[in-house]
Amino acid sequence: MIFEKIEHIKQQLSELRAENEEALEALRIKYLSKKGEITALFNDFRTVPADQKRELGQKLNELKNLATDKINALKETFKAQEKEKNKIDITRPAFPAELGTRHPISVVRKQIIDIFSRLGFTLADGPEVEDDWHVFSALNFAADHPARDMQDTFFVERNQDDVTRNIVLRSHTSSVQVRTMERKQPPIRIICPGRVYRNEAITARAHCFFHQIEGLYIDKNVSFADLKQVLLNFAQELFGPDTQIRLRPSYFPFTEPSAEMDVSCMLCGGEGCGFCKHTGWVEILGCGMVDPAVLEASGIDSSIYSGYAFGLGVERITNLKYMVKDLRMFSENDARFLDEFKSAH
Ligand code: DAH
Repeated sequence: MIFEKIEHIKQQLSELRAENEEALEALRIKYLSKKGEITALFNDFRTVPADQKRELGQKLNELKNLATDKINALKETFKAQEKEKNKIDITRPAFPAELGTRHPISVVRKQIIDIFSRLGFTLADGPEVEDDWHVFSALNFAADHPARDMQDTFFVERNQDDVTRNIVLRSHTSSVQVRTMERKQPPIRIICPGRVYRNEAITARAHCFFHQIEGLYIDKNVSFADLKQVLLNFAQELFGPDTQIRLRPSYFPFTEPSAEMDVSCMLCGGEGCGFCKHTGWVEILGCGMVDPAVLEASGIDSSIYSGYAFGLGVERITNLKYMVKDLRMFSENDARFLDEFKSAH
Protein backbone atom coordinates (compact mmCIF):
# COMPACT_ATOMS: atom_id res chain seq x y z
CA MET A 1 0.00 0.00 0.00
CA ILE A 2 2.61 2.52 1.05
CA PHE A 3 4.85 1.48 -1.86
CA GLU A 4 1.97 2.18 -4.22
CA LYS A 5 1.50 5.60 -2.71
CA ILE A 6 5.18 6.30 -3.24
CA GLU A 7 4.91 5.28 -6.88
CA HIS A 8 1.80 7.40 -7.30
CA ILE A 9 3.48 10.53 -5.89
CA LYS A 10 6.57 9.85 -7.98
CA GLN A 11 4.35 9.80 -11.03
CA GLN A 12 2.79 13.15 -10.04
CA LEU A 13 6.20 14.67 -9.41
CA SER A 14 7.39 13.71 -12.87
CA GLU A 15 4.61 15.85 -14.33
CA LEU A 16 4.93 18.67 -11.82
CA ARG A 17 4.12 22.10 -13.28
CA ALA A 18 3.40 25.45 -11.66
CA GLU A 19 1.89 28.58 -13.22
CA ASN A 20 3.64 30.95 -10.87
CA GLU A 21 5.47 31.16 -7.58
CA GLU A 22 2.31 30.99 -5.47
CA ALA A 23 1.19 27.84 -7.24
CA LEU A 24 4.63 26.35 -6.66
CA GLU A 25 4.51 27.20 -2.99
CA ALA A 26 1.12 25.46 -2.80
CA LEU A 27 2.74 22.34 -4.28
CA ARG A 28 5.58 22.50 -1.76
CA ILE A 29 3.01 22.64 1.03
CA LYS A 30 1.06 19.79 -0.58
CA TYR A 31 4.06 17.45 -0.56
CA LEU A 32 6.70 18.62 1.87
CA SER A 33 5.15 20.67 4.68
CA LYS A 34 4.50 19.20 8.12
CA LYS A 35 1.11 18.01 6.97
CA GLY A 36 2.28 17.26 3.44
CA GLU A 37 1.72 13.97 1.64
CA ILE A 38 5.38 12.91 1.75
CA THR A 39 5.74 13.89 5.40
CA ALA A 40 2.66 11.75 6.09
CA LEU A 41 4.36 8.77 4.49
CA PHE A 42 7.32 9.21 6.86
CA ASN A 43 4.79 8.99 9.70
CA ASP A 44 3.43 5.75 8.23
CA PHE A 45 7.00 4.38 8.25
CA ARG A 46 6.59 3.26 11.84
CA THR A 47 3.68 0.98 10.94
CA VAL A 48 5.47 -1.17 8.34
CA PRO A 49 7.05 -4.50 9.24
CA ALA A 50 10.74 -4.38 10.18
CA ASP A 51 11.95 -6.34 7.12
CA GLN A 52 10.56 -3.68 4.79
CA LYS A 53 11.92 -0.73 6.71
CA ARG A 54 15.28 -0.65 4.98
CA GLU A 55 13.84 -0.59 1.44
CA LEU A 56 11.05 1.77 2.40
CA GLY A 57 13.39 4.18 4.12
CA GLN A 58 15.51 4.36 1.00
CA LYS A 59 12.47 4.93 -1.24
CA LEU A 60 11.04 7.59 1.03
CA ASN A 61 14.30 9.48 1.09
CA GLU A 62 14.54 9.25 -2.68
CA LEU A 63 11.00 10.56 -2.99
CA LYS A 64 11.66 13.44 -0.65
CA ASN A 65 14.81 14.38 -2.54
CA LEU A 66 13.00 14.11 -5.85
CA ALA A 67 10.25 16.44 -4.65
CA THR A 68 12.73 18.91 -3.16
CA ASP A 69 14.85 18.95 -6.33
CA LYS A 70 11.84 19.34 -8.57
CA ILE A 71 10.41 22.22 -6.59
CA ASN A 72 13.80 23.95 -6.32
CA ALA A 73 14.33 23.56 -10.06
CA LEU A 74 10.97 25.20 -10.79
CA LYS A 75 11.80 27.97 -8.34
CA GLU A 76 15.03 28.59 -10.23
CA THR A 77 13.19 28.94 -13.54
CA PHE A 78 10.88 31.53 -12.02
CA LYS A 79 13.87 33.44 -10.69
CA ALA A 80 15.57 33.34 -14.08
CA GLN A 81 12.40 34.58 -15.79
CA GLU A 82 12.16 37.45 -13.33
CA LYS A 83 15.77 38.40 -13.98
CA GLU A 84 15.17 38.36 -17.73
CA LYS A 85 12.20 40.67 -17.27
CA ASN A 86 14.27 43.25 -15.41
CA LYS A 87 17.10 43.21 -17.85
CA ILE A 88 17.64 46.49 -19.75
CA ASP A 89 17.09 46.12 -23.46
CA ILE A 90 19.82 48.27 -24.93
CA THR A 91 18.51 47.74 -28.46
CA ARG A 92 15.23 49.51 -27.66
CA PRO A 93 14.80 52.93 -29.32
CA ALA A 94 15.27 55.79 -26.86
CA PHE A 95 12.31 57.82 -25.63
CA PRO A 96 12.10 60.91 -27.85
CA ALA A 97 13.41 64.01 -26.07
CA GLU A 98 10.84 66.82 -26.35
CA LEU A 99 12.60 69.87 -27.75
CA GLY A 100 11.26 73.33 -27.05
CA THR A 101 10.30 75.66 -29.86
CA ARG A 102 11.38 79.17 -30.60
CA HIS A 103 8.56 81.67 -30.34
CA PRO A 104 7.43 82.78 -33.84
CA ILE A 105 8.21 86.40 -32.97
CA SER A 106 11.78 85.37 -32.09
CA VAL A 107 12.05 83.35 -35.30
CA VAL A 108 11.02 86.29 -37.49
CA ARG A 109 13.01 88.84 -35.48
CA LYS A 110 16.10 86.70 -36.01
CA GLN A 111 15.43 86.37 -39.74
CA ILE A 112 15.12 90.15 -40.07
CA ILE A 113 18.24 90.80 -37.98
CA ASP A 114 20.19 88.29 -40.10
CA ILE A 115 19.19 90.02 -43.34
CA PHE A 116 20.25 93.47 -42.12
CA SER A 117 23.41 92.12 -40.51
CA ARG A 118 24.53 90.88 -43.92
CA LEU A 119 24.08 94.45 -45.18
CA GLY A 120 26.38 95.79 -42.47
CA PHE A 121 23.82 96.91 -39.88
CA THR A 122 24.76 96.33 -36.25
CA LEU A 123 22.43 95.96 -33.26
CA ALA A 124 21.55 98.84 -30.97
CA ASP A 125 19.45 98.91 -27.84
CA GLY A 126 17.62 101.35 -25.60
CA PRO A 127 15.34 101.39 -22.55
CA GLU A 128 11.62 100.58 -22.63
CA VAL A 129 10.87 103.21 -19.97
CA GLU A 130 11.85 106.41 -21.72
CA ASP A 131 11.70 110.15 -21.31
CA ASP A 132 9.65 112.39 -23.57
CA TRP A 133 12.79 113.70 -25.29
CA HIS A 134 13.85 110.37 -26.80
CA VAL A 135 10.35 109.16 -27.73
CA PHE A 136 8.88 112.43 -28.96
CA SER A 137 10.65 115.78 -28.68
CA ALA A 138 13.96 114.88 -30.31
CA LEU A 139 11.99 113.13 -33.07
CA ASN A 140 10.29 116.37 -34.02
CA PHE A 141 6.88 115.67 -32.46
CA ALA A 142 5.15 118.98 -31.70
CA ALA A 143 4.11 119.53 -28.08
CA ASP A 144 0.47 119.04 -29.04
CA HIS A 145 1.05 116.01 -31.30
CA PRO A 146 -1.76 113.47 -30.80
CA ALA A 147 0.73 110.58 -30.33
CA ARG A 148 1.61 111.99 -26.91
CA ASP A 149 -2.01 111.71 -25.91
CA MET A 150 -3.41 109.35 -23.28
CA GLN A 151 -5.07 107.37 -26.08
CA ASP A 152 -1.76 106.12 -27.35
CA THR A 153 0.93 106.36 -24.74
CA PHE A 154 1.34 104.74 -21.35
CA PHE A 155 2.63 107.34 -18.91
CA VAL A 156 4.91 106.36 -16.08
CA GLU A 157 5.07 109.99 -14.90
CA ARG A 158 2.85 112.58 -16.45
CA ASN A 159 3.44 116.28 -16.14
CA GLN A 160 0.37 118.40 -16.92
CA ASP A 161 2.24 121.70 -17.38
CA ASP A 162 5.29 120.53 -19.24
CA VAL A 163 4.93 117.48 -21.48
CA THR A 164 8.66 117.39 -22.11
CA ARG A 165 9.10 116.15 -18.54
CA ASN A 166 6.91 113.09 -19.06
CA ILE A 167 8.23 109.59 -18.54
CA VAL A 168 6.57 107.01 -20.78
CA LEU A 169 6.69 103.41 -21.95
CA ARG A 170 8.21 103.87 -25.37
CA SER A 171 5.56 103.73 -28.09
CA HIS A 172 8.08 103.04 -30.84
CA THR A 173 11.71 101.96 -31.20
CA SER A 174 12.55 105.23 -32.98
CA SER A 175 13.75 106.42 -29.55
CA VAL A 176 16.85 104.25 -30.06
CA GLN A 177 17.73 106.34 -33.14
CA VAL A 178 18.06 109.37 -30.88
CA ARG A 179 20.01 107.50 -28.20
CA THR A 180 22.47 106.20 -30.80
CA MET A 181 22.99 109.54 -32.55
CA GLU A 182 23.55 111.26 -29.22
CA ARG A 183 26.30 108.79 -28.40
CA LYS A 184 28.08 108.49 -31.68
CA GLN A 185 28.90 110.46 -34.83
CA PRO A 186 28.28 109.02 -38.34
CA PRO A 187 28.70 106.71 -40.08
CA ILE A 188 25.85 105.03 -38.20
CA ARG A 189 24.23 101.88 -39.51
CA ILE A 190 22.06 100.19 -36.90
CA ILE A 191 18.93 98.17 -36.38
CA CYS A 192 17.14 98.19 -33.04
CA PRO A 193 14.76 95.37 -32.22
CA GLY A 194 12.61 95.87 -29.16
CA ARG A 195 9.29 95.84 -27.42
CA VAL A 196 6.98 98.86 -27.59
CA TYR A 197 3.77 99.77 -25.73
CA ARG A 198 0.55 101.49 -26.73
CA ASN A 199 -2.57 102.13 -24.78
CA GLU A 200 -4.95 100.16 -26.96
CA ALA A 201 -7.77 97.75 -26.20
CA ILE A 202 -6.55 94.19 -26.76
CA THR A 203 -8.29 92.61 -29.75
CA ALA A 204 -7.38 90.14 -32.50
CA ARG A 205 -5.81 93.04 -34.44
CA ALA A 206 -4.31 95.27 -31.74
CA HIS A 207 -2.33 94.72 -28.57
CA CYS A 208 -1.01 96.97 -25.84
CA PHE A 209 2.51 95.73 -26.48
CA PHE A 210 4.23 94.46 -29.60
CA HIS A 211 7.66 94.37 -31.23
CA GLN A 212 9.33 96.66 -33.70
CA ILE A 213 12.61 96.80 -35.50
CA GLU A 214 14.00 100.21 -36.25
CA GLY A 215 16.66 100.86 -38.87
CA LEU A 216 18.89 103.92 -39.17
CA TYR A 217 21.65 104.79 -41.62
CA ILE A 218 23.46 108.13 -41.37
CA ASP A 219 26.49 109.08 -43.47
CA LYS A 220 27.59 111.56 -46.12
CA ASN A 221 25.52 111.51 -49.32
CA VAL A 222 22.90 108.99 -48.26
CA SER A 223 19.98 109.19 -50.67
CA PHE A 224 16.43 107.95 -50.98
CA ALA A 225 17.67 105.57 -53.70
CA ASP A 226 19.91 103.89 -51.09
CA LEU A 227 16.89 103.41 -48.84
CA LYS A 228 14.85 101.94 -51.65
CA GLN A 229 17.58 99.49 -52.65
CA VAL A 230 18.10 98.25 -49.08
CA LEU A 231 14.37 97.78 -48.59
CA LEU A 232 13.97 95.92 -51.89
CA ASN A 233 16.79 93.60 -50.90
CA PHE A 234 15.21 93.09 -47.48
CA ALA A 235 11.76 92.31 -48.92
CA GLN A 236 13.16 89.81 -51.42
CA GLU A 237 15.28 88.07 -48.80
CA LEU A 238 12.33 87.80 -46.43
CA PHE A 239 9.47 86.98 -48.79
CA GLY A 240 11.24 85.51 -51.83
CA PRO A 241 13.18 86.78 -54.88
CA ASP A 242 10.07 87.62 -56.95
CA THR A 243 8.78 90.07 -54.35
CA GLN A 244 8.15 93.61 -55.58
CA ILE A 245 7.98 96.74 -53.43
CA ARG A 246 6.22 100.05 -53.78
CA LEU A 247 6.66 103.22 -51.76
CA ARG A 248 3.66 105.43 -51.06
CA PRO A 249 4.09 109.01 -49.78
CA SER A 250 3.21 109.30 -46.11
CA TYR A 251 3.92 111.44 -43.08
CA PHE A 252 6.03 110.93 -39.97
CA PRO A 253 7.32 113.87 -37.87
CA PHE A 254 10.90 112.54 -37.93
CA THR A 255 11.33 111.89 -41.67
CA GLU A 256 11.07 114.11 -44.74
CA PRO A 257 10.10 112.84 -47.21
CA SER A 258 8.27 109.94 -45.59
CA ALA A 259 6.87 106.81 -47.17
CA GLU A 260 5.07 103.62 -46.41
CA MET A 261 6.28 100.51 -48.12
CA ASP A 262 4.07 97.80 -49.56
CA VAL A 263 5.25 94.42 -50.82
CA SER A 264 3.54 92.42 -53.53
CA CYS A 265 1.06 90.05 -51.91
CA MET A 266 2.80 86.85 -50.84
CA LEU A 267 -0.36 84.82 -51.38
CA CYS A 268 -1.37 85.80 -54.90
CA GLY A 269 1.96 87.26 -56.10
CA GLY A 270 0.30 90.58 -56.89
CA GLU A 271 -2.68 89.33 -58.90
CA GLY A 272 -5.14 90.40 -56.20
CA CYS A 273 -6.86 88.15 -53.67
CA GLY A 274 -8.93 88.29 -50.49
CA PHE A 275 -5.79 88.58 -48.35
CA CYS A 276 -4.54 91.77 -50.02
CA LYS A 277 -8.09 93.06 -50.44
CA HIS A 278 -7.68 92.65 -54.20
CA THR A 279 -5.00 95.34 -54.40
CA GLY A 280 -2.06 92.98 -54.96
CA TRP A 281 -0.11 94.82 -52.21
CA VAL A 282 0.31 94.58 -48.43
CA GLU A 283 1.80 97.28 -46.24
CA ILE A 284 4.83 96.31 -44.17
CA LEU A 285 6.74 99.34 -42.91
CA GLY A 286 7.23 103.08 -42.58
CA CYS A 287 10.38 104.86 -43.70
CA GLY A 288 11.90 108.09 -44.94
CA MET A 289 14.88 110.42 -44.98
CA VAL A 290 15.74 111.53 -41.46
CA ASP A 291 14.49 115.08 -40.97
CA PRO A 292 17.44 117.52 -40.60
CA ALA A 293 15.82 118.80 -37.40
CA VAL A 294 16.16 115.29 -35.91
CA LEU A 295 19.85 115.12 -36.82
CA GLU A 296 20.47 118.54 -35.26
CA ALA A 297 18.54 117.67 -32.09
CA SER A 298 20.91 114.76 -31.55
CA GLY A 299 24.08 116.73 -32.28
CA ILE A 300 24.71 115.71 -35.88
CA ASP A 301 25.53 118.36 -38.46
CA SER A 302 22.78 118.15 -41.08
CA SER A 303 24.79 120.19 -43.57
CA ILE A 304 27.32 117.35 -43.74
CA TYR A 305 25.26 114.27 -43.05
CA SER A 306 22.01 112.80 -44.25
CA GLY A 307 20.38 109.47 -43.69
CA TYR A 308 17.35 107.26 -43.82
CA ALA A 309 15.29 105.44 -41.22
CA PHE A 310 12.65 102.77 -41.28
CA GLY A 311 10.50 101.02 -38.74
CA LEU A 312 8.58 97.79 -38.99
CA GLY A 313 6.29 95.73 -36.79
CA VAL A 314 7.51 92.19 -36.11
CA GLU A 315 4.03 90.84 -35.33
CA ARG A 316 2.74 92.23 -38.59
CA ILE A 317 5.48 90.55 -40.61
CA THR A 318 5.06 87.31 -38.66
CA ASN A 319 1.36 87.41 -39.53
CA LEU A 320 2.16 87.86 -43.19
CA LYS A 321 4.63 84.96 -43.17
CA TYR A 322 2.62 82.53 -41.05
CA MET A 323 -0.95 83.78 -41.47
CA VAL A 324 -1.59 84.07 -37.74
CA LYS A 325 -5.09 85.51 -37.50
CA ASP A 326 -5.22 86.63 -33.89
CA LEU A 327 -2.47 88.81 -32.37
CA ARG A 328 -3.36 87.60 -28.88
CA MET A 329 -2.00 84.15 -29.67
CA PHE A 330 1.53 85.57 -29.57
CA SER A 331 1.32 86.28 -25.85
CA GLU A 332 -0.99 83.53 -24.57
CA ASN A 333 1.70 80.86 -24.25
CA ASP A 334 -0.56 78.13 -25.62
CA ALA A 335 1.77 75.20 -26.27
CA ARG A 336 -0.44 74.00 -29.15
CA PHE A 337 0.15 77.31 -30.96
CA LEU A 338 3.89 77.25 -30.28
CA ASP A 339 4.12 73.60 -31.43
CA GLU A 340 3.08 74.70 -34.90
CA PHE A 341 6.42 76.49 -35.24
CA LYS A 342 8.55 73.44 -34.44
CA SER A 343 10.09 73.41 -37.89
CA ALA A 344 10.68 77.17 -38.05
CA HIS A 345 14.09 78.47 -37.08
N1 DAH B 1 7.99 104.85 -35.49
C1 DAH B 1 6.99 104.56 -36.50
C2 DAH B 1 5.80 103.89 -35.84
O1 DAH B 1 5.92 103.39 -34.77
C3 DAH B 1 7.56 103.67 -37.56
C4 DAH B 1 8.58 104.38 -38.40
C5 DAH B 1 8.19 105.10 -39.52
C6 DAH B 1 9.89 104.36 -38.06
C7 DAH B 1 9.09 105.72 -40.31
C8 DAH B 1 10.85 105.04 -38.84
C9 DAH B 1 10.40 105.72 -39.97
O2 DAH B 1 12.13 105.03 -38.54
O3 DAH B 1 11.33 106.35 -40.71
O4 DAH B 1 4.77 103.84 -36.44
